[in-house]
Amino acid sequence: NAMFYWQRTAYHFQPQKNWMNDPDGPLYHKGWYHLFYQYNPDSAIWGNITWGHAVSKDLIHWFYLPLAMVPDQWYDINGCWTGSATLLPDGRIVMLYTGSTNESVQVQNLAYPANLSDPLLLQWLKYPGNPVVVPPTGIEDNEFRDPTTAWLGPDGSWRITVGTRFNTTIGTALVFQTTNFSDYQLLDGVLHAVPGTGMWECVDFYPVAINGSVGLDTTALGPGIKHVLKASLDDTKVDHYAIGTYDMITDKWTPDNPEEDVGIGLKVDYGRYYASKTFFDQSKQRRILYGWVNETDTEADDLEKGWASIQTIPRSVLYDNKTGTHLLQWPVEEVESLRLNATVFKDVVVEAGSVVPLDIGTATQLDILAEFEIETLVSNSTEDEVSDCGDGAVVRNTYGPFGVLVIADDSLSELTPIYFRPLNISNGSLETYFCADETRSSKAPDVTKRVYGGKVPVLDDENYNMRVLVDHSVVESFGEGGRTVITSRVYPTEAIYGAARLFLFNNASGVNVKATLKIWEMNSAFIRPFPFEETLF
Ligand code: FRU
Repeated sequence: NAMFYWQRTAYHFQPQKNWMNDPDGPLYHKGWYHLFYQYNPDSAIWGNITWGHAVSKDLIHWFYLPLAMVPDQWYDINGCWTGSATLLPDGRIVMLYTGSTNESVQVQNLAYPANLSDPLLLQWLKYPGNPVVVPPTGIEDNEFRDPTTAWLGPDGSWRITVGTRFNTTIGTALVFQTTNFSDYQLLDGVLHAVPGTGMWECVDFYPVAINGSVGLDTTALGPGIKHVLKASLDDTKVDHYAIGTYDMITDKWTPDNPEEDVGIGLKVDYGRYYASKTFFDQSKQRRILYGWVNETDTEADDLEKGWASIQTIPRSVLYDNKTGTHLLQWPVEEVESLRLNATVFKDVVVEAGSVVPLDIGTATQLDILAEFEIETLVSNSTEDEVSDCGDGAVVRNTYGPFGVLVIADDSLSELTPIYFRPLNISNGSLETYFCADETRSSKAPDVTKRVYGGKVPVLDDENYNMRVLVDHSVVESFGEGGRTVITSRVYPTEAIYGAARLFLFNNASGVNVKATLKIWEMNSAFIRPFPFEETLF
């Protein structure tokens, strides 16, 4: 359908057609990054869930492979749902995934590659003794899913965690112990539970180094390490994380700050984003995060265009030891290989209440680095009412909002502001929000348009800085080095192809802003079927 064609992204992973949701079992094997994903081979809406499969040398250019797993056994006939890979020290690969059974019971199943020497891992075998874990007593049959990557405990046996809920409201992660991946024992107590957060889907649990720029294998234990616990909240469809300490003897995790516990504090991404999952990339010693970006148009539109959903650009994840409270997410360095010509703007003054065009030509595929300094025009300002990102970029405060307008047309009839909103919380002490405002992003009817964002720490010696990846209908925005991240889904009708522009804006009433930017036009990435007929290795 021509009307929808321009919504396809040019360098984000998405299937050729039909529906995709969660990333599954990401891993690196013999020179290839493998991505599996929840995939409906028959339609652009959810259903008949199989495991789609794609491989990449660089996490950016992808080859589609044949489906890795399809629902063909009683224990997964209603769907091969989300799961995770574990690489064993002897080189074997274990895949655990949720099956929805012939009676729609959620069980955990084991699968493994038929041939480990195949770099493409084309053929997957399901363990004949499946299911390996069934819902424990007291857990609802349909509230027990998405096993994590396993980690090795100090007693020499492996552990996995699976999300569920108690009494419909207490979100929690159960821990199972195994030595052989076919027999499991539920451990007493739980990894963690948070009242009021509901069903936990797609739990992710991994270590981060307190000091260091490398990622850690899931089994890393010991001093100098914290553990991140992430849950995807079924009730709100938001991915939440918290940083804390894992006691490997009791198998309990405790948040550093109980007020910012899982599900009530930080979000992995404040935008359209869900069911994220990390893996350890042993080839580059880094932890990489994928996330599913759903559409915000209607199912009818998705059926008409024949596809739905994309994955984010994979992000590296590190602990931010400057704040001690946040993770840092950053697009993997490989995305920089798509950078074409760069344009630099230095010290552009954007006066209070103004918009400045940035003359870079077409602005549908961009990588933007922007830094802002503020020059205060008022001697004292009144306190702002704290309301996060408020009602969007039109709301004027003394110190903000200011930032960029992406995917905008010349006449600003469509635009998506990505911005900082520093609020005066008392006596000029500022609390800053990093936001995206989709409300004027599209003239199309029946599109969900929201104002998204979250608090972002801006330390005394820091400028305001953001990185923004623009790709036709998706905008991934990273505030303050990736402390706060927002993925926006936008469907412009005017600001498409050659008509898309980029602007700076400053809607503050009491500050001028000085902006310095480096902007790259981005190449498209090839994402296509694997060329089996050609020789690649
Ligand atoms: C999350 C989720 C998982 C489940 C899968 C089914 O989006 O609901 O909990 O395993 O999707 O496709």
